[in-house]
Amino acid sequence: MSEKAKTTISVIKADIGSLAGHHVVHPDTMAAAAKVLAEAKSKGIIVDYYITHVGDDLELIMTHRKGVDAPEVHEVAWNAFKEAAKVAKELGLYAAGQDLLTDAFSGNVRGLGPSAAEMEFVERPAEPVIVFMADKTEPGAFNLPLFRVFGDPFNTAGLVIDPKLHDGFKFEVYDVIGGKYVIMNLPEEMYDLLALIGTPGRFVVRRVYRKSDNEIAAVVSVERLNLIAGQYVGKDDPVAIVRAQSGFPAVGEVIEAFAFPHLVAGWMRGSHFGPLMPVSQRNARCTRFDGPPRVVALGFQIKNARLIGPADLFDDPAYDETRRLAQTIAEYMRRHGPFMPHRLGPEEMEYTTLPAVLQKLQNRFVEAKLYEVKGPKVKTELLHE
Ligand code: 13P
Ligand code: 13P
Ligand code: MG
Ligand code: MG
Repeated sequence: MSEKAKTTISVIKADIGSLAGHHVVHPDTMAAAAKVLAEAKSKGIIVDYYITHVGDDLELIMTHRKGVDAPEVHEVAWNAFKEAAKVAKELGLYAAGQDLLTDAFSGNVRGLGPSAAEMEFVERPAEPVIVFMADKTEPGAFNLPLFRVFGDPFNTAGLVIDPKLHDGFKFEVYDVIGGKYVIMNLPEEMYDLLALIGTPGRFVVRRVYRKSDNEIAAVVSVERLNLIAGQYVGKDDPVAIVRAQSGFPAVGEVIEAFAFPHLVAGWMRGSHFGPLMPVSQRNARCTRFDGPPRVVALGFQIKNARLIGPADLFDDPAYDETRRLAQTIAEYMRRHGPFMPHRLGPEEMEYTTLPAVLQKLQNRFVEAKLYEVKGPKVKTELLHE
């Protein structure tokens, strides 16, 4: 293998059905997926893999030499999900095949239901990588923590004190509704970036690059399942990959951004705001009100495209206070019951079952001419309308 050989890490996930509602992946479905990945490894399509789950999402972490969006690798993932879904159907698991929106695979899982985060790089002598996997939320949930990791010196000390980080990072932001993206440089365009990514249901941080040499630093799955399906089929539970140390933020700086359990969209029926709670693999299962939303962080070292590890990074009492705060926030939000801002706003609810209820009420309304309604003076739509 030449020294310049590139390694790709692909994290591809799907909800293919789960045990007791949307709670956890059944071990038999994981075993079915593992069989497909073991075969792909023996054939040399992938070099290594690690299979896990976060709540009801089956997560395939794969390393290989075939680059991002490689049809062969995507086909392996697709077949693993199909085999797992078959078992889910046999067992009568809930929402079996939930995220597999089609029967026909066409070279790439994007747009077919599963979500993917992939990055390719030349391995450094030591290559620490963190894989984040969340359940009961959406890709924009990573906006706030990724901003803090790569843009906020109050989170990442290295932005100030490490010359290799001091130039800053570039954020690629994807407009999931407009189907466009924009690249913004930090720190100089920080306020513009925040003007966009503060709307995480629409503007999603898709990639982060180191500004000095364009080296890939982070990537997020940006698939919005409901926008693809046109209706509510489940939340777009996202994954992200972040490189750490030696020219990137330290591992401890990357996970520090999750010490604040910020509010994210998802939770019950994908229709509620709740705190994102960092948990260990052991606690990667949503319970109360199908939540609160959770995120797991697995740390790997990658060597010659092999996955060394993982280290279960949130399995630490140092995150107990974050979890306690998350539960206090969960309790506070729950008390709002069906009221906003616990329940999501009308734009997001469009993809749920609420419109069917509202439709039924339409005929009940009678004209009330109390005053003339002129409509807004200022065009309130965001961009590209
Ligand atoms: P070590 O001195 O333990 O390698 O740690 C360096 C570092 O960057 C910690 O954040
Ligand atoms: P998932 O998106 O994790 O399948 O959850 C869906 C849901 O409706 C939870 O209440
Ligand atoms: Mg589910
Ligand atoms: Mg899920």
